[in-house]
Amino acid sequence: MSILEQLAQLRSEAEAEIRAASADKLNDLRLKLFSRKNGSLNAILRGLGGLSAEERPKVGSLANEVKAHLEGLLNERLEQLKNSVMEVRLQSEKIDVTMPGHWQNPGRIHILNQALDRIKDTFKSLGYSVVQGPEVETDYYNFEALNIPANHPSREMWDSFFLREGLLMRSHTSPMQVHIMEKYDPPVRVIVPGKCYRRDAVDSTHFWEFHQVEGLLVDKNVTFSDLKGTLDLFARRMGGHQRKTRFNPSYFPFTEPSAEVMVDCFVCNGKGCRVCKNSGWIEIMGAGMVHPKVLKGVGYDPERYTGFAFGMGVERIAMLSCGIADIRLLFEGDARFSRQF
Ligand code: PHE
Repeated sequence: MSILEQLAQLRSEAEAEIRAASADKLNDLRLKLFSRKNGSLNAILRGLGGLSAEERPKVGSLANEVKAHLEGLLNERLEQLKNSVMEVRLQSEKIDVTMPGHWQNPGRIHILNQALDRIKDTFKSLGYSVVQGPEVETDYYNFEALNIPANHPSREMWDSFFLREGLLMRSHTSPMQVHIMEKYDPPVRVIVPGKCYRRDAVDSTHFWEFHQVEGLLVDKNVTFSDLKGTLDLFARRMGGHQRKTRFNPSYFPFTEPSAEVMVDCFVCNGKGCRVCKNSGWIEIMGAGMVHPKVLKGVGYDPERYTGFAFGMGVERIAMLSCGIADIRLLFEGDARFSRQF
């Protein structure tokens, strides 16, 4: 076979091979055809030496043409294979944008935190700082420094979880009154939100873990009317401008005088209903003027400084404002419950 015929044969055989090649064979095929050392084209051209001077350029230009042609085919085939791979992927990954989506239930701020946020905002706007304190307390801070000596009957008001000797889970946030006054000189103006623990039997209004917000203000010339004005404003900020407050005499060892603070029932507006047990009033917190003994104990001079303190149950406020009858619902973490508020 002449070199020209050989080239024509290579051309037609290679064309068929390229057309049938898969993507991973394509490179091998390229080498098989054009490799300098053992490619088919060069094998044929090695016969050039035996040709006459006029035949050589003809064969040379045909060889170039065949090479260019086959290279073009190889590239075309590569493109074609790439496209079809892409085609298959596009098909299999096709997204039907008209399909209905999966609804992801968004979370909701728990109503305890909602209530807490509103309480904090109200007192922050009155210039109070927000501080936090330890949930494990010593007997001294939870009781003794608050004028509740060992064996005093008023300890009955706080059924406590005792840890090892002298330590307990705080049964109210009032110990922070002492911590704060020990650390800072007057004037002080703080609220203390936090978790408290009591060995209470669980029922619809009691749980062994709950939250309080303590308030403390100490300065020169602070009077009971400052306390009344502050809590009156608080009640109106939380429950609407028409709210009224009432202060009933009460007893806490660390305040004198002490009061339980009532608001007129915001369900029936004081007429009497199930929520206020027909009294027209709802108790929202304990309060009073800081006892001189407590002031002395932290090194404040009760002749120069007076102050007031109050403590409210956050669960109670959240339940009242959302009309929830059972405290246990607040601790179950059921999203169907939380989502309603
Ligand atoms: N610590 C009291 C309680 O838990 C509430 C209170 C706080 C009363 C501050 C007076 C002043 O019942």
